[in-house]
Amino acid sequence: MPTILAIESSCDDTSASVCRDGAILSNFIANQTVHEQYGGVVPELASRAHMQNIVPVVDVALQQAGMALTDIDAIGFTQAPGLIGSLLVGAQFAKSLAIALDKPLIAVHHMQAHVLANLIEEPRPQFPFLCLTVSGGHTQIVLAKAPNDLSVIGETIDDAAGEAFDKSAKIMGLPYPGGPLIDKYAATGDPKKYKFAEPQMEGYNFSFSGLKTSVLYFLQKEQKANPVFVKENLEDLCASIQHTIINILMKKLQKAAEETGIKTVCIAGGVSANSGLRSALKQTGEALGWNVHIPAFAYCTDNAAMIAITAYHKYLVGDFSDLSVSATARAEWS
Ligand code: KG4
Ligand code: ZN
Repeated sequence: MPTILAIESSCDDTSASVCRDGAILSNFIANQTVHEQYGGVVPELASRAHMQNIVPVVDVALQQAGMALTDIDAIGFTQAPGLIGSLLVGAQFAKSLAIALDKPLIAVHHMQAHVLANLIEEPRPQFPFLCLTVSGGHTQIVLAKAPNDLSVIGETIDDAAGEAFDKSAKIMGLPYPGGPLIDKYAATGDPKKYKFAEPQMEGYNFSFSGLKTSVLYFLQKEQKANPVFVKENLEDLCASIQHTIINILMKKLQKAAEETGIKTVCIAGGVSANSGLRSALKQTGEALGWNVHIPAFAYCTDNAAMIAITAYHKYLVGDFSDLSVSATARAEWS
């Protein structure tokens, strides 16, 4: 019955979670609001806020789980990828705890953890499954054969899906992060009103930078003729942009499901909150006989519970790290 304390600090959320024998007992997250005024995450401010938050966040996670530090059998932490200053705070804290408690340390790859977030709650997907991970920093299709056997079979070559939402929103003058706002306005818009660039990519890879440029040029042209074009057509613009992003994602996911013959399809990352993407997944899933798995939203955005569940599976196979392990901004998928 291992009890694992896990820490996530890869970007702008400081989070800690306690997991006992694969069951999540707590998952506490401190969001950083300091970035809102800058229209995006400011790395230096993020690491400073992690420094302030980490001790109280770990305390709350332990309290909510009804555990003390002496109950912990191993410490998991996000090693990569992410903002290096942010990662270092969590990594150094985890290492210090491992030394102080004389317990094993487990380094976790943030993107693998997003995929394994699907294992947190019942009903758990059966292996093998495909996972579409869509966040502000990443867009991947992962083939999961077992908890410790995950491979990326497709990914974005430029912007992530979340960035495509956020950058398009910014062009329209919406505040950061614009993804949830596009979702909101899209609900009452016409998704077929405007056509934006959909790239033709090899295999299961994605590209979203062309979409942003296509939105920018289109709006520059329209606003020359009508300076309030965006305001007058916001719902239709949001619906059309969202429709394009979902189309790009769903086409590749469908291709991967067809070609691998895998019918269990999961989703992960903050963009999975998008209502259009959720309904596209459900509809396509029903039409093609997929078993669709969408985790609770708290486990889709950055959270330490996904680090804890991944650390738990690593613990089971004795995949520990030595104390020389270092946080890295980018890391190969191993
Ligand atoms: O996974 P996440 O919380 O953070 C990382 O990027 O790691 O994802 C954040 C991204 C942002 O780009 C945000 O705009 C997007 O998820 N997002 C959405 C929605 N909710 C969050 N995008 C579209 N529709 C939403 N409802
Ligand atoms: Zn993430």
